[in-house]
Amino acid sequence: MSRVVIWSFLIACFFGLSAPSVVIAADTVCIECHGGQPGSLGVPVADWRTSIHSENGVSCHDCHGGDPTDFAMAMSPEKGFLGAPEYTDVPAFCGRCHVGVSDAYQAGAHGQAIESGGAQCVVCHGNHAIQKANLDLINEEACSQCHTYERAALIRLSLVETDTMVAKVEHDLDRLYRLGFAVDDMQGTLFSQRNLFHQIFHGVDVERVRAETADIQAELSKVGTKVAAIDSTVGQRKLWGSVVIALFVLAGVIFLLVRKAYEEEEKG
Ligand code: HEC
Ligand code: HEC
Ligand code: HEC
Ligand code: HEC
Ligand code: HEC
Repeated sequence: MSRVVIWSFLIACFFGLSAPSVVIAADTVCIECHGGQPGSLGVPVADWRTSIHSENGVSCHDCHGGDPTDFAMAMSPEKGFLGAPEYTDVPAFCGRCHVGVSDAYQAGAHGQAIESGGAQCVVCHGNHAIQKANLDLINEEACSQCHTYERAALIRLSLVETDTMVAKVEHDLDRLYRLGFAVDDMQGTLFSQRNLFHQIFHGVDVERVRAETADIQAELSKVGTKVAAIDSTVGQRKLWGSVVIALFVLAGVIFLLVRKAYEEEEKG
């Protein structure tokens, strides 16, 4: 790779990563003007205010481009305004920020079939009122608009199983952490497996989802085994703790008895 390519890549990464976190979702000229527009020009503002994007400072211009500080020139192409994307352009539009998801999507059946009606990002997530994602997005009503629900249901089943396991491991590690155990290693495994897990869906491939969730479940089971081992030492410690306390109590009782016997002997 040439140096120019590497530098452009690094600069693109810098702006790509820093833009959403640096820009606070303050009122821009886009929001001011569109907020006062009727119908489909104004609705995006109200919808967007409820979204995870708004919460994270991703504003109109972060998606649509343009100049959020210049009333007159806000939507000029010279200011980088992109307009609203066509149906087939949406994955690339969202994929500027969601690179991993977008790659998995493009490689899968939906991405491959986009020209002939494959679902794209907005079909499932909506456009302006996008919320934090979860597996409830996979449901019969949403997924049987274009084909039968059968394969979707199989995918959902594998994902829900793994999701439950992720939640259990999260809960266990929290508990051990609060008890004062070092769980960094296990947290690391959980973190990477959870990331892998959340990337699987967009490929919408039943066999792959099965194979990959099986791998993730195997890794999570290993963490589960370690948790069980720690729990059993905690159990043993508790047991030894009780034994020691019992011995102290016994020693105390014996001491009192001996003293009493001694006192009685002195009296008598
Ligand atoms: C002074 C008012 C005003 C400002 C400022 C403004 N817009 Fe608009 N916008 C409109 C109107 C009116 C339309 C519909 C007519 C048109 O497309 O020009 C529109 C259309 C749009 C569309 C739809 C275009 C399409 O292809 O269908 C998008 C997306 C959009 N604006 C985003 C933005 C963004 C992002 C900003 C800020 C960078 C912005 N607007 C600033 C008034 C405004
Ligand atoms: C997460 C990216 C994203 C953000 C943030 C966003 N938009 Fe959009 N917007 C889209 C997409 C995608 C479309 C294309 C419509 C579709 O496919 O449903 C769109 C379409 C539009 C349209 C065309 C009319 C319509 O609803 O289809 C307008 C106008 C618009 N956006 C204005 C805005 C304004 C104003 C804001 C800020 C309050 C905003 N958008 C924020 C992604 C975004
Ligand atoms: C300018 C960058 C940017 C663009 C463009 C963008 N997003 Fe986002 N998106 C973010 C950020 C930042 C977050 C919040 C942090 C996170 O959860 O990743 C987010 C969060 C999300 C989430 C919730 C993720 C979760 O953890 O559950 C979804 C779903 C989402 N975006 C979908 C979309 C869709 C669909 C589009 C296109 C219409 C889009 N995004 C366009 C930056 C962007
Ligand atoms: C067929 C419906 C569907 C389509 C199409 C779709 N998504 Fe998703 N998306 C989901 C579901 C379901 C989840 C939750 C998966 C999970 O939790 O493992 C999700 C999760 C996400 C997340 C959160 C991932 C994380 O790490 O937690 C993001 C971001 C996202 N989608 C963005 C996109 C973008 C961008 C596109 C288009 C390239 C897209 N989605 C297309 C259904 C869809
Ligand atoms: C807008 C239409 C549309 C919607 C909505 C939609 N799909 Fe699809 N889906 C397609 C198309 C088109 C194909 C490719 C042709 C086919 O295999 O039926 C496809 C294929 C699939 C496949 C088969 C992949 C393979 O190679 O076996 C699965 C699995 C799938 N979709 C899951 C889902 C899930 C889960 C949802 C709901 C979250 C969903 N789809 C919603 C259009 C859609």
